[in-house]
Amino acid sequence: MSADVRPGAQLGDFRILELVGRGGMGIVYLAEDVRLKRRAAVKVLAPELAEDETFRHRFIRESELAAAIDHPNIVPVYGAGEAGGRLWIAMRYVEGTNLRDLIARKGRLDLEYAVSVVSQIGRALDAANSRGLVHRDVKPGNILILPGAGGESTDHIYLTDFGLTKRAMDDSGLTSTGQFIGTIDFIAPEQIQGRTLDGRADQYSLACVLYTCLCGHVPFLRDVEIATIYAHLTEPPPRLSAERPDLPPFFDDVLGRAMAKDPEQRYPSCGAMVAEVRGRMAAPAPAPEGPASAPPPQGAVSALPAQTGAPATEPMPTRRSEPPPYPPARRRPPPPPVPPPVSPPAPWPSPRPTPAVRGKVRLSRNGWAVASFVFGLLGLFALFVGPVLALLFGYRALGQIKRTGELQPGRGLALAGVVLGWSWIALTAISLAMTLTRR
Ligand SMILES: Nc1ncnc2c1ncn2[C@@H]1O[C@H](COP(=O)(O)OP(=O)(O)OP(=O)(O)O)[C@@H](O)[C@H]1O
Ligand SMILES: [Mg+2]
Repeated sequence: MSADVRPGAQLGDFRILELVGRGGMGIVYLAEDVRLKRRAAVKVLAPELAEDETFRHRFIRESELAAAIDHPNIVPVYGAGEAGGRLWIAMRYVEGTNLRDLIARKGRLDLEYAVSVVSQIGRALDAANSRGLVHRDVKPGNILILPGAGGESTDHIYLTDFGLTKRAMDDSGLTSTGQFIGTIDFIAPEQIQGRTLDGRADQYSLACVLYTCLCGHVPFLRDVEIATIYAHLTEPPPRLSAERPDLPPFFDDVLGRAMAKDPEQRYPSCGAMVAEVRGRMAAPAPAPEGPASAPPPQGAVSALPAQTGAPATEPMPTRRSEPPPYPPARRRPPPPPVPPPVSPPAPWPSPRPTPAVRGKVRLSRNGWAVASFVFGLLGLFALFVGPVLALLFGYRALGQIKRTGELQPGRGLALAGVVLGWSWIALTAISLAMTLTRR
């Protein structure tokens, strides 16, 4: 069975009309609500998700919660259900594009436009977070754009796919399948670590989205996903000014705070982050004849080169929808409770434990460095010193045996050591030669 549904098929009140697009978890169709005579988008989830009890429960619970939130920037949910072993969710059909496709097409976005997108999504997230709902998968692909009548600046922005992170957990918060399929480019460190989540995880992701809009690529762009995960966990947030020196330097501070590893150090809400951006953009331009050692200007827009919104050369690189080859996560005891913030009171009610992306050893940054160094040494020893020692000891033993003229039982062993040592060296030389000639 697959998530494919034929045009004309009916799921609840919704008659399927045509395919809109495929995602990592299912297929989205344009449909008609036969009762209310309006269009809808129906997402049919991959059947294996329906088979996962814990996912089913969470999907149903969170789609009900999302449906209960009436917010202009959250795609309204019309209904959800199950048909023929497939879970589906019906929602408003947004006739437009999504932010991922827009960035892929245009590259870097205009500053005002990017701030407008993040501001609308920030409002949606604050509304959801204040009701105890954490989105967990804020990314450009889940941000839908309804083009406005007056050009880009009036586009209406929607957040979609609440409760559709590709993870399954049971109510105790322990990972059951440990699956996380899809992009990890926007995921907060505490989510990777399986810690208690609240809206500040969404804020981290939203800051990554803002960075991506302004840079044209994701903040921790690495060749392999495991390196991106490592960067989210340990590396300082990238400085936007390094790639966009034409933008106000205050973005480094704002993104640095919103992408802090420790949620306590982030803004109390997404709205607070956006307010800081807007406040700093509105600040008066610095005096042009200031001393060279003066503190950096607060980034007035008027002091900047005009933002044209012209396409950048590079589209946003994507690395998504492929299930990463993570081993199944091991069960482990829930993490120790995180003490609540003292001041200011954070507006994140009902934090819920979330599963780890995968089982792992917890080590500090130094611990990882020491472990890597020790294993590197061991590897070097095994690879290079081992055969050399085998030859040294082997020849020495053979020399002694020859000098004494006795037939000793160790002779065979010494010979074997010498042969193994040479074989290893020969093999290394052959593989080196093959690698070099292939190039
Ligand atoms: N409510 C909607 N109205 C119109 N188009 C939609 C709607 N929801 C999703 N789409 C489009 O359907 C396509 C598939 O969406 P889907 O959410 O399945 O994939 P995704 O967001 O790319 O990946 P993921 O599975 O990680 O969410 C996308 O192009 C998206 O823009
Ligand atoms: Mg989606």
